[in-house]
Amino acid sequence: MIIAVDGPTASGKGTIAKALAAHFGLPHLDTGLLYRAVGRQLQLAGGNPDDPHAALAACDFPEALLEDDVLRSEEVGGYASRVSVHPGVRRALFERQRTFALQEGGAVLDGRDIGTVIAPEAQVKLFVTASTAERARRRWLEMQSRGIAVDLAVIEADIAARDERDTTRADAPLMAAPGAVVLDTTTLGRGEAIAAAITAVRRQAGLE
Ligand code: C5P
Repeated sequence: MIIAVDGPTASGKGTIAKALAAHFGLPHLDTGLLYRAVGRQLQLAGGNPDDPHAALAACDFPEALLEDDVLRSEEVGGYASRVSVHPGVRRALFERQRTFALQEGGAVLDGRDIGTVIAPEAQVKLFVTASTAERARRRWLEMQSRGIAVDLAVIEADIAARDERDTTRADAPLMAAPGAVVLDTTTLGRGEAIAAAITAVRRQAGLE
């Protein structure tokens, strides 16, 4: 069974995808990490993320970079969002994601275009979302817990800018795939969101 989990930043899709993978015993790929690795590689090279050639060259990142905690930073997230606009970058990362999705036994992938581009044949498609204010609040709390002092309004503006880029890009824009179940986590706690996702998967997969 392929489970595609798409949605905007800080919607809870990563947490949900991880929990679904554990629950259904499937391997999980956070595809945002691949774009973050490209962004980081480009940052290290001192390149311009808006230059398609520089961004494509950064797709050749070392595997070890995927383990680097710096990928989780807001700054690298911004780079990732900018490099992910280029069709060449999306093509370069396509095969790796597709192979992961098609492995025997199935997989869970989370990202922006899993249900639309990477695995349109996925039996289960979820689109996880939440209000911009709530997503900003979550990101802010997460940063507070890591000891990073930052203004909530700055985070909210950054999230809005990232949403704008992700939803308006010409190639593989962020959107709910046809047939996807939309899961709004704005008023849900972590456990509630996971439980709702498990129920949605079981229904879509015909397990109940
Ligand atoms: O999900 P995450 O915030 O880690 O993703 C970082 C950036 O990578 C996103 O803002 C988005 O622009 C890009 N991305 C993408 N397609 C994916 C996953 C992430 O374009 N499947």
